[in-house]
Parts: sequence; structure tokens; C-alpha cells
Amino acid sequence: MGCPGAGKGTQSVKLQEVFHLKHISTGDVLRGEIASGSELGRQIAGIINQGNLVPDQLMISILEKIVSATDKGIIFDGFPRTVAQAQALDDMMQRLQRQISQVIMISLPENEVVGRITSRRQCRKCGEILHVEPNAGSTVCPVCGGELYTRPDDTPERVKHRLEVYHQDTLPVKNYYQNSGKYIEINGNQTPQQVFKDIQTVLEKIK
Ligand code: AP5
Ligand code: MG
Repeated sequence: MGCPGAGKGTQSVKLQEVFHLKHISTGDVLRGEIASGSELGRQIAGIINQGNLVPDQLMISILEKIVSATDKGIIFDGFPRTVAQAQALDDMMQRLQRQISQVIMISLPENEVVGRITSRRQCRKCGEILHVEPNAGSTVCPVCGGELYTRPDDTPERVKHRLEVYHQDTLPVKNYYQNSGKYIEINGNQTPQQVFKDIQTVLEKIK
């Protein structure tokens, strides 16, 4: 968990390698549906490009198919995002005879968010997340040579709206988990390497 720009994607990519997990970013899943050109994708684009959340029921039904198709441990990035989704995740885990091991909140002061997000580029091909300098010319991924793009919901106005949605709908999920004994907060306002080390220390204990 974490607000927009907290570093969920950056950390999940590293964690999936080191801990051999399947990384499921619900944002990436939705962007994949949009890229497929389907009717559902067109409806989703109208919602997420404005910075709003897709309906809980739709999100859960899309996710359950992906979760049931893997036996690997899973790192959810950006899910659950509402209390209803957290309750549905509990039900899903029970149905699939799985359990939640750890809930990690990456915290970040809000004055860091807009700068981080408007400097982000992502590779269409390999998914690499990059921080670029203002007016950076290069549009090529240094990892795979794929095309770098800016997400349509990454304008300063949309980011501000996403933060409002985060406060209203997602922060209550923190209360849902806080007394579960599985919830921990990590300081996201450090180098990505230090954030990773802190998360690694938590996960090593439950390995
Ligand atoms: P989603 O794609 O999940 O977006 P988000 O939650 O707003 O988070 P971001 O992806 O913007 O940030 P991040 O925390 O992953 O940060 P990153 O690592 O990229 O969701 C998008 C939309 O999809 C939602 O608004 C909603 O519409 C819909 N959606 C998704 N899930 C949903 C759900 N469950 N239910 C309903 N709707 C849903 O890093 C950001 C930048 O910072 C990068 O440039 C990176 O290089 C840099 N950075 C990272 N870490 C550091 C660090 N430690 N120091 C300095 N810079 C750093
Ligand atoms: Mg992300």
C-alpha cells in the first residue's frame, strides 16, 4: 500500500525477483486491458485517466482470475484500495485456501508526490519505471530499448485528485489492517535501495 508515487511499483519489481513472487499491480492490469483495445478497456480508460477508482466488483472479478491462475506467492501492488476490496480479498483468500502474510504501507510526505510522479516515465515493453529530469529528451528505455511513455493520469491536476481519492477511499484500509498484527509502515522518503532493505528485513522474518 501507499499513496500515488510512494514507490509501490519500484519496490514490487525488485521484491518479485528476490523473493520469487508474482507481482500483481492492479494499475498495470487495468492499463493492460486498455491497451488491448477492448470495450471494457475503453470504459476503464474513462475512469482511471481521470484519477478515479474502477468499481470494486469489477476490480475483484478481474483479479480473482489472475490470482487463481498462479500457485506462487503474490505481491499485490495497489490492492486493496477500499475497505470493500479488503473484505473481498479476505473472502478470496479463504476460498483459495491462501493467506495474507504481511501488509506493507510505504509512507511518503505529500509534498514529495507531484514532483516524483511528473518525473516518472515507464517502458511500454518491459515495464521499467524511471525517474527522468525535467524536459529529458530521451524516449527510449535504457534497459530494453522500448518506448518510454508518460501515464495520462500523471499530470499535476490528476495527481492532486488521485491524492484526494487516496485519502477518502484508501486510507481507511490502513485502519482495517492496523490491528491485524500483519501491518507495518516503511519510510518511503529514503533512497529506493534503503526502502528495499527495510522491506527485505520485514519479509525475511516471515520467509
Ligand atoms: P496505480 O497504477 O496503482 O497508481 P498509484 O497508486 O497512483 O501509484 P503509482 O503507480 O502512481 O505510484 P507507485 O507507488 O507505484 O510509485 P512508483 O514506484 O511508480 O493505479 C492507477 C489507477 O488505476 C488508479 O488511480 C485507479 O484509477 C486504478 N486502480 C488501480 N488499482 C485499483 C484498485 N485496486 N481499485 C480500483 N481502481 C484501481 O514511483 C513513482 C516515481 O518515483 C518514479 O519516477 C520512481 O522512479 C520514483 N521513486 C520511487 N521510489 C523512490 C524513492 N525512494 N526515492 C526517489 N524517487 C523514487
Ligand atoms: Mg505503480
